[in-house]
Amino acid sequence: MIKAITGTKDILPEDIQKWVYLENIVHKVMNNFNYKEIRTPIFEETKLFKRGIGEATDIVSKEMYTFLDRSETSITLKPEMTASVVRALIEHSLDKQQQINKLYYLAPMFRQERPQAGRFRQFHQFGAEALGSTSPSLDAEMIIMAYQIFQKLGLSKITLKVNSLGIPSSREAYKDLLRSYLADKVNDMSEDSKSRYKTNILRLFDSKDERDQKIMERAPLLLDHLDDESREHFENVQDLLNKANIPFEIDPKLVRGLDYYTHTTFEIVSDSVGAQSALCGGGRYDLLVKEIGDRDVPGVGFAAGIERILLACENEGVLPERENRIDYYIVRLDKELNNEVFQIATNLRAKNQTVEIDYTLRSVKAQMREANRLGAEKVLMLGGEEYERGKAVLKDMNTGEQTEVELSEFLKK
Ligand code: HAM
Repeated sequence: MIKAITGTKDILPEDIQKWVYLENIVHKVMNNFNYKEIRTPIFEETKLFKRGIGEATDIVSKEMYTFLDRSETSITLKPEMTASVVRALIEHSLDKQQQINKLYYLAPMFRQERPQAGRFRQFHQFGAEALGSTSPSLDAEMIIMAYQIFQKLGLSKITLKVNSLGIPSSREAYKDLLRSYLADKVNDMSEDSKSRYKTNILRLFDSKDERDQKIMERAPLLLDHLDDESREHFENVQDLLNKANIPFEIDPKLVRGLDYYTHTTFEIVSDSVGAQSALCGGGRYDLLVKEIGDRDVPGVGFAAGIERILLACENEGVLPERENRIDYYIVRLDKELNNEVFQIATNLRAKNQTVEIDYTLRSVKAQMREANRLGAEKVLMLGGEEYERGKAVLKDMNTGEQTEVELSEFLKK
């Protein structure tokens, strides 16, 4: 028996309505903020992600689906969209056509993580990127947009956390400070943290290890060592969030798992989905475009995990009931009328009606049962002496009322 690959999931017809419901809200909100949809290929050259996300990150160092194609090019299934969007922006000189590009996406992503509830190897994100301005208004806009989507979905057990990572110069100075604070403690930390101490010291704040957490509790915080420009930027973002009535917490330990951030970072976490609680994450990345391309274009963005959000919606009981209805079911009273039933169905379908018929020569009783199961609004019964008189019986399934209709008239309507 061949099965779906570990960490991947089929989205079956019974689940699709939830996905479409969420996708429609995403399209609507993104449209309200005037973001334009972008679609990029599912794979890219590996070096794009290495350069963009950072070699020392978990994503690049251990989670990417990377392979050589037949022409020996190293290819990677995209683990995130930001690097791809930036690549597309540069490749098509979108930044030269207009100063600010506000883009959004819905797409599958691939990371070879250990699967568990809310963590998959193929998962889906929606997200947005605004490129071309350092204005804190765009940081705030991004956060508000993400928050509004969650509000529209009816999620209430969520917390917005924000932080600032400042600019590289103040961050580098702070890292030195952190390094010296930890110098005589790092030997007591977990193996992971020992190696991150050398490669990616900020990530020590993310450690789940209790010993590490104890040590990090007293560590100096980047937020207390920001330069004036970064502090001002961050205060401006907070001010805009306050004015928009968006509740948030400042989390000075929010460092995020990708290397490209400067200034604002944020996450929205849920209390209702267990360990994988981050529904969405993002921040500003003013140096990424230069890292990937040849010019300076500042950016800010976020991405949200659709599987996790739907799980949160389910757990909070805020998804609309599954709709189960069709416009017509055509019941065939006489077996000989098979082709006539088919023809009428085709005719109605061409008129934008959702129509189902029987394909298995079932009894009239079984066909009526099927009409009920499918939530048919109306049943058209074809056969008997009515049919010979050019008529059919139309039953309204809500009221039970039956009327005789002239078939040719009915089909003309
Ligand atoms: P990220 O935090 O790596 O950020 O991912 C964003 C969201 O994707 C997470 O909060 C989570 O909901 C979902 N996610 C990540 N990995 C998995 C997984 N294995 N299974 C299920 N869901 C997952 C980014 O990807 C950045 N590109 C966000 C960004 C955009 N920053 C600036 N612009």
